[in-house]
Order: sequence, then C-alpha cells, then structure tokens
Amino acid sequence: VKKVLILVNDPGKEASPDVQDVLMQAGAVENVLREMDAEVKRFSVSLNLEALDSLLQKDPPDLVFNLVESLAGRGALLHLVPALLEVRYIPFTGSGSYGLYLTTHKVRAKRIMRQHGIHTPDWISLPADTFPEKGKRYIMKPVSEDGSAGIHDASLVQAGELTREILSGSTTPAYFLEEYLPGREFNLSVIAGPEGPQVLPAAEMQYLDYPADKPRILGYAAKWEENSFEYRHTVRRFEMAETDRVLVREMERISLQCWHLFEARGYIRVDFRTDAEGNPCVIEVNANPCISPDAGFPAACLHAGIGYREMILRILNDLTV
Ligand SMILES: Nc1ncnc2c1ncn2[C@@H]1O[C@H](COP(=O)(O)OP(=O)(O)OP(=O)(O)O)[C@@H](O)[C@H]1O
Ligand SMILES: [Mg+2]
Repeated sequence: VKKVLILVNDPGKEASPDVQDVLMQAGAVENVLREMDAEVKRFSVSLNLEALDSLLQKDPPDLVFNLVESLAGRGALLHLVPALLEVRYIPFTGSGSYGLYLTTHKVRAKRIMRQHGIHTPDWISLPADTFPEKGKRYIMKPVSEDGSAGIHDASLVQAGELTREILSGSTTPAYFLEEYLPGREFNLSVIAGPEGPQVLPAAEMQYLDYPADKPRILGYAAKWEENSFEYRHTVRRFEMAETDRVLVREMERISLQCWHLFEARGYIRVDFRTDAEGNPCVIEVNANPCISPDAGFPAACLHAGIGYREMILRILNDLTV
C-alpha cells in the first residue's frame, strides 16, 4: 500500500466557487486512491512552508498528489510547493516547479511560446510598454489567476477606451491586455500514457443564442454562476466537422509542443482561439488543469474512453521526480 499525501490550498469557508473547487478535486482524487487501497492523507498548504516541510520529514509520503492552485490566495506563488518537493526528493503528480512557474504567469508563457514560433495573440503588459493599436479590441486579464477570476464582459475594451490611467497599470497592476480574438474557441487536453503524452479529442466551446453585441468569452459567470445566461448558453462539443481536420491536427501538434516546451508531466490543457485567418493561437497553457469530475479535462478523457480512475492512474504513472 502506498502512502499518498494530497496537497491542497485552504480556500477558507467564505471562498468563491472557483477557489472552493480545489476541495472537489481533492475529494474525487481521494476516493479513487482509497479504492486502490492507498493510505491517503490530506494537507492544506499555506505560506507557512515550514509546516509542510516538517510534515514531509516527520511522516514522508511515497508520493504527493499536488492540487495546490494558490498560496495566500495568489496563483503566482503556486510553484513554491513543487519547488519544495523537488529539493526534498518527494515524487509528485503533475508538472514540476519549472513548468508551473512559467505557465502560471501568462505573459511569461506567451513570451516563450513566441520565441518558439507558437502563435499567441499580441499583448500589452502593464504599465504599457507599447501603444494599443487603433481599432483593435483587447481583453484585460489577470496575469496569474485561473478559472476566469476577474474576467467579465467589461474586460473587453476598444483600443480607444484605454485611458492613460489603465495603461499606467496603477489601478490594475496584476493585469495585462491581450488582443481579443473573436474566433472559435477550443480546449486541447493532453494526458500522459504508456507511449508518452497523448492528445485527447479536441473540445470546442460554443456560445448559443448570444446577442450579437455580447462578448463571446468564457468569463467568470460562464464558468461558475450556474443560473447565469452565460453558464446556460455555453456548451462544450467534441463532435468535429470533417472540414476542421486540418485545424484540429494543427492544434494537436501545438499542444504537444507546449507539453515538451514546459516539461509537462501527467496532464495539461491548452486553450486556443482562432484569429481572423482561422489560425489557432494559444491563449493559455494550464499545467494544472481542473480535474473535478465535471471539468473539461476528465470530459476529454471520457471521449477517448479513459474513465476517471484510469485518468488518475495515468497521472500517478507520470510523476515529477
Ligand atoms: N485573447 C483572447 N481573445 C478572445 N477571448 C479570450 C482571450 N483571452 C481570453 N479569452 C476568453 O476568456 C476566457 C478565459 O481566459 P483564460 O483562459 O486566459 O483565463 P483563465 O482564467 O486562465 O481560465 P481557465 O479557467 O481556463 O484557467 C477564455 O476561455 C476565452 O473565452
Ligand atoms: Mg482558460
């Protein structure tokens, strides 16, 4: 029997659903591990890394299932946990500190992707280093948060609306501006397999009966507010038209490239939008995508005939060591 330590961040009782979700993931993972007769413990990691470190020394697990999404509420600090596990030589699930550090900071990841020829929308960091292009639309996104925290219809702005104050970054230092791509949206999940990373069936996000002037974005409401128009009018589709084969092939290729570029382990999900020419552009790489049973990653697994238990097994068989 293996001793497994599940690591989560403590969302606190008052946390919003996107933050609470880590507990859903932990519960689902814990059930599978218990069915496999593993000896499972769970620990909430805070900024007090000493507490985690002494637990690791007092009662070392055989491996850690790392679900930590933030420390002190900051996604930008999540790579500290794998960094500690690495220096203590404790194997753990998912990507290492290197890949998590790079991908958690969307601008950092975009810069690297550009250097490697992967298309990603133009962007402006704040404080702005370049001028917005006239006529372009931008989406204002947090640099380091996930789950569409801080993304709403109002996040979409015309170049002309970008005031000096916004561009100075004084009001929103943790955000950046990314060129808005009005095209199609896809998620490509990649899971570790016996022969290396396996790209799972592409999912397209579809916006049903959206008023013409409403931004087609998967913002906070679409992801977490079950009674909202956005939640009820967005669906994930796995059926692909014959005419999309070339596009899907290209996204599969890019997703694998991202896997290797960021030295991914276990599982990742790459989010795309298509540009005006229909070319796929990466909007973000999720090196620790949500694996709640109702999330996109397990859904893509199911479409490839990989059930939840097998998904967890595959993640356990591709540890960072
Ligand atoms: N450049 C863009 N052009 C068009 N839409 C965008 C762009 N960037 C983000 N979006 C929209 O906003 C959503 C959330 O953006 P993004 O995936 O970057 O954020 P996230 O909070 O990291 O989400 P996740 O829940 O996938 O971790 C996307 O699914 C997409 O609908
Ligand atoms: Mg995303």
